Amino acid sequence: MLVLDFGGQYAQLIARRVRDARVYSELVSHRITPDEVERRNPYALILSGGPASVYAENAPLVDPAIFSLGVPTLGICYGMQLMAKDLGGSVERTGASEFGKTELRAADGALFKDLPDEQTVWMSHRDAVTAPPEGSRVVAGSPSTPIAAFEDPERALYGVQFHPEVVHTPHGQELLKNFLYEVAGAPPAWTPAAVIEEQVERIRAQVGRGRVLCALSGGVDSAVAALLVHKAVGDQLTCVFVDHGLLRKDEAAQVVETFGRQLNVPLVHVQAQERFLARLDRVAEPEEKRKIIGEEFIRVFEEEARRLGATRFLVQGTLYSDVIESGGNDGVAATIKSHHNVAGLPAEMEMDLVEPLRMLFKDEARRVGEELGLPERMVWRHPFPGPGLAIRIIGEVTHERLEILREADAILLEEIRRAGLYRELWQCFAVLPAIRSVGVMGDERTYEYPIVIRAVTSEDAMTADWARLPYDLLETISSRIINEIPGVNRVALDISSKPPATIEWE
Ligand code: XMP
Repeated sequence: MLVLDFGGQYAQLIARRVRDARVYSELVSHRITPDEVERRNPYALILSGGPASVYAENAPLVDPAIFSLGVPTLGICYGMQLMAKDLGGSVERTGASEFGKTELRAADGALFKDLPDEQTVWMSHRDAVTAPPEGSRVVAGSPSTPIAAFEDPERALYGVQFHPEVVHTPHGQELLKNFLYEVAGAPPAWTPAAVIEEQVERIRAQVGRGRVLCALSGGVDSAVAALLVHKAVGDQLTCVFVDHGLLRKDEAAQVVETFGRQLNVPLVHVQAQERFLARLDRVAEPEEKRKIIGEEFIRVFEEEARRLGATRFLVQGTLYSDVIESGGNDGVAATIKSHHNVAGLPAEMEMDLVEPLRMLFKDEARRVGEELGLPERMVWRHPFPGPGLAIRIIGEVTHERLEILREADAILLEEIRRAGLYRELWQCFAVLPAIRSVGVMGDERTYEYPIVIRAVTSEDAMTADWARLPYDLLETISSRIINEIPGVNRVALDISSKPPATIEWE
């Protein structure tokens, strides 16, 4: 399934919903040529929404020859309007723009098979189709948008003005399934097991008998990528785990236990804690910390790679969202941001990248990880920044501060897990601002560090809201941290959203 991206915020969401229906989908640019579509031989095309009016200058267009290929096509919102404009219908600014929930009335039709005649749908448009494409039939309308859906079964062309991909359209997923299974005849065959099978074959074809290196970080992406490669080429893979001493409590031990002992992946555990700490000595500036850690990481990794001898391939846990964000699909919406994963590890090492997660969204990579036997705790781990705890100590990084922060973070996460909230949060962690405040414990005046609790909900880390943790839980966390950790006499809660704050403090 190909989703033609017209720059709408919903294009990615459409691709995900299609995959949720177990049909593999990819985002492609609206500039894709009819030849390229034929070469890719998809079951169907979906034209996404977009921010533009089809008559606007620079409006993203499509080669109308695509509509004559006989490939079943569904236009959504802007995509529907474009079909109407290109196929002999018309689109106008009627003055009746619609944003939000609307009551839709549908006649019969393939898209609406087994759905209620009346349903709530989500609309977001200014222009409206005032005449459907020639030869097509109007099958649904709302009070202010009489042409809210059309169908032309003969040419396999379909359009809906509303957004079936969003949760505010409760029957949207069923409509998409009708299109995929009934109209396009695409089987729901794309499962984690199928992904594994396909990737294993690809990796074998790419790597042959070559040696492969993978930098494990403890995070889910590199872990799943490593397991896939290990399944494909076994001991041709060596994982290098650079322990920079900035990980959370017990995390290093977990990586070694899981990969080395349970999963039998060849693993080199590089104990580089002192090296990193030495280089961070008396450094307080956040960007400086990041730079030092990044550089040192590459240095350590290169040393290990050299020690292991000639290795041609390097595994990276690049995800589909990284590829899209880097403009990899030539979409209009692509913000050109060089993601640290895509930008890559040492360029001067001149290794060929093996990126088995390149076409997967994070939750899909997680499901593949589960299927490959990665423990639940690793699969569902919150994101963790590469520079680790160093950017959660606001100020200089010292042994003592790391120890305090690690213990506080462990208590916080233990209580969050106990309360059953871990999976509901995008991230939850402790921050140690290296300032001291006055307190009193017993009869004694104290002068110690505070710990800040940061807990956020988010979809994609681009925006985030602070989590409304229950007061009783906060009380337990606060008293445990202050009572159990010497050196802390105060706990504060960060109640800032992103923007204007960021999730991390540095
Ligand atoms: P901010 O703090 O910018 O973070 O709101 C957004 C997301 O990115 C993570 N993050 C990083 N991840 N290396 C990483 O691999 C980094 O240097 C880094 N900085 C922030 C952060 O944890 C959050 O999930």
